[in-house]
Amino acid sequence: MIALVLAAGALGCEDPPVAAPEPPPLTLVGDDPSDAPIDAVTPAELERFAQGDARFELPFREAQGLGPRYIQRSCVSCHEDDARGPSVVRRLAVTSGDPHEILPFGDVVRPRAIGEARPLLPPPSGVREEARLAPPVFGRGYLEAIPDETLLRYEREQAAGDDGVRGRAHRVARSSAVALADGAPTLGRFGLKGRLATLDEFVADALVGDMGLTSPHRPSEPPGPDDVEDARPGVDLTRDDVERLVDYVRLLAIPRREPRPGAELFVMVGCARCHVPRARTRTDHPVEALRDVEAAVYTDLLLHDMGLGLADGIVEGDASGREWRTPALIGLRFQRRLLHDGRAETVLGAIAAHASEGSEANVSVERFGRLSPTDRATLVAFVEGL
Ligand code: HEC
Ligand code: HEC
Repeated sequence: MIALVLAAGALGCEDPPVAAPEPPPLTLVGDDPSDAPIDAVTPAELERFAQGDARFELPFREAQGLGPRYIQRSCVSCHEDDARGPSVVRRLAVTSGDPHEILPFGDVVRPRAIGEARPLLPPPSGVREEARLAPPVFGRGYLEAIPDETLLRYEREQAAGDDGVRGRAHRVARSSAVALADGAPTLGRFGLKGRLATLDEFVADALVGDMGLTSPHRPSEPPGPDDVEDARPGVDLTRDDVERLVDYVRLLAIPRREPRPGAELFVMVGCARCHVPRARTRTDHPVEALRDVEAAVYTDLLLHDMGLGLADGIVEGDASGREWRTPALIGLRFQRRLLHDGRAETVLGAIAAHASEGSEANVSVERFGRLSPTDRATLVAFVEGL
């Protein structure tokens, strides 16, 4: 059975391999907006959330410091409705042609320069372009509030198991420009390879990396093409500008979910080994609404070797070209495409892609393939409702 599931994935055919009951379509729950703050925020937090929301949607202009090189002008062009896409980030990877030997390179392609839209040059021979779709941003405050010790406990628990799951926390170098509150996490958790530990660092990084907007957190930026001057030399944004965007992302709620059957199957098959359904947040978090709550995040925030099939060959910090951080399955129903490059359009396609040479998820995909067609459909529908 498993062979059939995998073959379907490999052919890009997303149909279930055997006649299974029709899963319910991907539907939104009631009129629940994705763009909602956590229920319990204070009026002051709500005000900052609203200011950040406006900045998240704002197309930045040259006069505000956009560029000299950039990818898009606004956060929403890659995080539409706080979910995923439509724009992507392209990274370059060098390949020797041997699938087992993938060499790191990893430059970000910034196709636009201010003043004009430059055509994308085809990558030189021996260089591949890897697309990266943005992860959704809702519920990120909870991810940040999960204590480092919890990640270290997951590491130990997984190492003690016999199903091949061996997650590791991304131990990252601290960026000194970002002042961090007491108790802020130090283990990487944001980015597709968990390359940064806090939202402050990540947002400042997105501003400079995707849009060429410098801030006190990240005062230098990649140079422009020779003939293009930065329209606004010096630091473009204030600490406040960055912090409002951080407040917005930090205070976004986990979209409300309709209860669906299948949670036990999710655990039984081993999906929950990596997509850990729930985690308790810090008891000393500065935002009361994020303090000591049980958050349904569906991630362990650890890096996993996902095998040759999903490898992009790009090394980031301590993460290898085959490792990915377990994505939080939060607001999955708002995503039109799945996996780091959006290669899967359905949950079934995403599950099939988990299995390949060397993947830590092989056992779990094998168990999924052994379920009855009805159970498979129930599990898929459960994930589609997250
Ligand atoms: C050109 C597309 C693009 C733009 C513009 C963009 N992002 Fe992203 N965003 C991405 C991609 C791709 C990733 C994954 C990056 C990685 O793996 O390092 C990401 C990741 C993130 C994450 C981490 C989520 C997680 O769970 O790992 C946050 C937070 C985020 N972006 C916020 C923002 C904010 C705020 C802005 C505007 C200042 C912004 N992004 C602009 C593409 C974009
Ligand atoms: C060994 C850890 C591991 C196991 C076990 C695992 N996953 Fe994943 N899952 C990941 C990682 C890592 C990714 C990201 C891979 C990528 O983007 O290339 C992922 C991605 C996904 C995605 C796409 C999410 C998105 O935002 O694009 C879905 C859906 C998913 N997994 C569901 C499942 C289900 C269902 C199971 C059980 C059958 C499962 N996973 C088992 C680690 C795991």
